Amino acid sequence: MNHEIFADIEDLDVKNLSRNEFLLTTTQIIQKHFPMYNWVGYYFLESDGKLHVGPYVGKTTPHEIIELDKGICGAAVSRQETIIVDDVNADPRYLSCSLETRSEIVIPLKIGGEIAGELDIDSSRPAAFSQDDKAILEEVVKMVERVLEKVAL
Ligand code: SME
Repeated sequence: MNHEIFADIEDLDVKNLSRNEFLLTTTQIIQKHFPMYNWVGYYFLESDGKLHVGPYVGKTTPHEIIELDKGICGAAVSRQETIIVDDVNADPRYLSCSLETRSEIVIPLKIGGEIAGELDIDSSRPAAFSQDDKAILEEVVKMVERVLEKVAL
């Protein structure tokens, strides 16, 4: 698999970035390559057992903390697998972040093999996430995991 997004992330000078700067920059890079993604951000599993929003680009979300049995976000971390929802309005699990959102993908993120959070992306286009998008984004998450594991950000 080849995509310019990988080089953009590889080129980041991670030693001179804080953890949050690194994560925010990756969301900006994702949005640069996929302009139809309207909200790109991370949630991290904290010690209270809930998902807390991390760096993101897009409108302010009303869901800063999400329980694991709530939302597409909770489902992806609980099942530890990527979830694509082509029509969020047809999915009863969906927690609305913005009225414009029509589709969503959530990819679990692991640190040292343990579930640690996720990358969450919304689009105002229905069924915006193809299997190719999924493969690219899963690879991006693997790159982010490696940085979070290797560099003491
Ligand atoms: N839609 C998500 C909630 C997070 S916002 O999209 C940023 C969900 O259903 O879990």
